[in-house]
Amino acid sequence: MTKYKRADPEISRRKFINAAFGTAGAVGGLSLITALAGIRPPIRLNASKVPPLTGDVLVHAEGDKSGQPIKPADLTNKVTRAWPQGKDKKGNTVVRSGEPNNLLIVFKFPPGELQPPTDMQAAIADQGIVAYSGICMHLGCQVGDNPAKPETLLCPCHSGAYDPRAGCKVIGGPPPKPLPQLPIKMEGENIVATGPLKEPYFGIQESEWKTLLEEAKDI
Ligand code: FES
Repeated sequence: MTKYKRADPEISRRKFINAAFGTAGAVGGLSLITALAGIRPPIRLNASKVPPLTGDVLVHAEGDKSGQPIKPADLTNKVTRAWPQGKDKKGNTVVRSGEPNNLLIVFKFPPGELQPPTDMQAAIADQGIVAYSGICMHLGCQVGDNPAKPETLLCPCHSGAYDPRAGCKVIGGPPPKPLPQLPIKMEGENIVATGPLKEPYFGIQESEWKTLLEEAKDI
């Protein structure tokens, strides 16, 4: 197993909350307890924690079909949450849900609705199917549908907004970057990753991301 350190989204969220409410230092012991509660040991990389890799099948992350491969007929222009499912070194099937940042979101738009800067080569363009990281690039919350503005995404934490038809570019709020797109293709009836996320997911730097992907090859 490989030890791997990265920015912890839970710690980042706690730092943000503490800063926002001015509690750091003001409530002494309680802050210390809160901070200690948020510290987790370095991640031990294993097959359930490596990021989505080439050949991973996208499976439902919630609902009645949880754990089953996502079919095009299951998808709509609303969020469908997914995990990448791959294999470990022994060939055993592994859902990579051990790392919360591996959560994905998948959509199916009417053909022709996908626009730049969506990477069309990384989408199943003829069916309007596209997949992204489901974790906000601001402070790591899960993004979801925006009831007030259909076909856009809203992060419930600080109202970050993204456009999933246009490469999940930021259209509102504080996120500094678009949600990274996952390259996919159809393989039979399944939706399969053709590579890793095109950019690092939340909380990790480019150099760390490259190291992580290198280490993932040996897991
Ligand atoms: S975590 Fe702040 S906008 Fe998403």
